Amino acid sequence: MAKQGQIKAIKGMKDVLPDETRDWLRVEALCAQLFGNRGYKQIRTPIMESTNLFARSIGAETDIVSKEMYTFEDRNGDSLTLRPEGTASCVRAGIEHGLFYNKQQRLWYVGPMFRHERPQKGRYRQFHQVGVECYGWSTPDIEAEVFSMIKQLFNKLGLQNVVLYINSLGDSDSRARYKAALVLYLQGFIKDLDEDSKRRLNTNPLRILDSKNERVQAILKDAPSILDFLSEDSRARFDELQNYLKALEIEYQVEPRLVRGLDYYNDTVFEWVNHDYGAQATVCGGGRYDLMVEQMGGQATPAFGFGMGLERLIEMLREQNAPNLVEDDRLDAFIVSVGKTSRSQALKIQQNLTQNGLSAALHVGEGSMKNQFKKADKSGASLAIIIGEQESEDYAANVKILRKDLLEANPNFQQISIAQEEVFNFVTNLLN
Ligand code: HAM
Repeated sequence: MAKQGQIKAIKGMKDVLPDETRDWLRVEALCAQLFGNRGYKQIRTPIMESTNLFARSIGAETDIVSKEMYTFEDRNGDSLTLRPEGTASCVRAGIEHGLFYNKQQRLWYVGPMFRHERPQKGRYRQFHQVGVECYGWSTPDIEAEVFSMIKQLFNKLGLQNVVLYINSLGDSDSRARYKAALVLYLQGFIKDLDEDSKRRLNTNPLRILDSKNERVQAILKDAPSILDFLSEDSRARFDELQNYLKALEIEYQVEPRLVRGLDYYNDTVFEWVNHDYGAQATVCGGGRYDLMVEQMGGQATPAFGFGMGLERLIEMLREQNAPNLVEDDRLDAFIVSVGKTSRSQALKIQQNLTQNGLSAALHVGEGSMKNQFKKADKSGASLAIIIGEQESEDYAANVKILRKDLLEANPNFQQISIAQEEVFNFVTNLLN
């Protein structure tokens, strides 16, 4: 319990405690493996950038830029911002280091992001994303590859009940024509719109489609659909993407009102949603952003990617009791020893076992044999390695099987004393 005056973590920012981190490590390791299998390389960018990077790329009218960024002046008076997302930094780094110059890149990242939002379940002020960004491919086959990779990750983790929604925002021409039609339609209901939507009518009408206001939602039911305004090219690539998804047997729903909260997208946008989770149900979102690299000063480069919220993903998996979340991290051996000489030998055995790839814990500090045995049992270790006074004098160790299934597999096994230098081989044989 916190005492009065004690310093606590900042609102909306969470500690990930020792019992939780293994789920995080498992998810991150699986991402590294699955993404690496398809040739994606990790990129690490600083968590702080010049403020205008985000203002220029994400869009000044978005909630993120207009009210959620952690922005401050550093000691030189430069305006810096803790990154609210990873895409802008990837684009900045790619341009700065010539990664896109006549080259294609499959990149991924993982790390903390910062948004000053109202904290609630699944929404934090510091949160973590794993993200993927692909540069240099304009065709929807890259999109299908990415969808297949996300689905694989969900399957391996055992995440269930996630629905994939896709939409096309078309190219600039499609969007301009759609915006005009949407504004015309909404002007007919102007007195029923909330203040936010009225303002967006002039600044960013597409964002009104995302409104949570019930009256606005009702008005939107009969609004024109962007899919009726797609240019021939945008229509064809949206169809092509859907053909790939069908071939990959990835289920999806077309949602013409899906627009996303960032302004940089064109053509394909998508979200994976788990409706059982609560209000913040989107676990992964992304899309195509073909104009950003050029807008930020690079050579025109098509781009596609996603961000996945790790807090949400892990909480969803826990709610579903996902069986694959935790890897078996069973201990091979627990070493019991009493007295300084035997402790020194126990330390050496632990060093030797772990150096050779086994896992071994050691009792540290005072403690009777009985006490240590209790700990060994509780640890879930397969074996106990015991060095009592006699063993210590003889440079020997006793090995005892603790795990029930291992005992059943070795019914004739007797606790025996072996030479300490034999312990590794003996244990390895017994466990295999
Ligand atoms: P985003 O939709 O803003 O997209 O965020 C992606 C995911 O991050 C969300 O679906 C959610 O799971 C998680 N997330 C966002 N905000 C929070 C929060 N406050 N607390 C917890 N989780 C959160 C992007 O960030 C884009 N950069 C995605 C992208 C990459 N598009 C193209 N490339």
